[in-house]
Amino acid sequence: MELGAIRSQFPALLQQVDEQPVYFFDGPGGAQVSSRVLDAMTGYLKKGNANLGGRFFSGYATDNMMANARSAAATFLHAASPENIVFGANMTTLCFSLSRAISREWKPGDEVIVSELDHYSNVSSWEHAARDRGVVVKKVRVNPDDCSIDVEHFLSLLSTQTKLVAFTLASNVTGTLADAKAIIRAARSVGAATFIDAVHYAPHQR
Ligand SMILES: Cc1ncc(COP(=O)(O)O)c(C=O)c1O
Repeated sequence: MELGAIRSQFPALLQQVDEQPVYFFDGPGGAQVSSRVLDAMTGYLKKGNANLGGRFFSGYATDNMMANARSAAATFLHAASPENIVFGANMTTLCFSLSRAISREWKPGDEVIVSELDHYSNVSSWEHAARDRGVVVKKVRVNPDDCSIDVEHFLSLLSTQTKLVAFTLASNVTGTLADAKAIIRAARSVGAATFIDAVHYAPHQR
């Protein structure tokens, strides 16, 4: 990779603070934005901000822009179709909404599994929903040696009571990647759904 060429696309990396170049190490605290993205955002706003579905030129432009963005995101994520892509305010808000929708079908005594490796967003949303439905939340331990999810512990928590397993695909703290196939296969074997937080996955693997 040509780091110079990549860094040059990010205005935030080109500034100097106290006459020193700047480096951003807090990835989870805010990803820096490339000129191409900034230009697309300001370019859209300069031409006329509109709601989706407006029957006039800026409404059509907004519909087109959204369709193109969903199509590009579907290609990037290998989604089956642009219809599978939803944009939202941020992961926490989306996860909170989804947990409210999914938990409507939970009953007292059902169980949800989260992990110690997860970002608080992917734990608290499920905990709040579970509390309101009388559902038990179990937490998978992390192996201290390599910061991976303790799969044996996970399997010991899994049962026919389990309705949902939520885990992180790439930890924002340690960079640990989860064995998603194994977790999903095990969850499916007891009829549980899986929810993956892939906020930090894109820079790690396709
Ligand atoms: C792994 C992970 N999940 C979820 C979140 C929450 O994302 P958002 O700020 O979009 O709500 C973060 C934020 O840092 C994160 O690192």
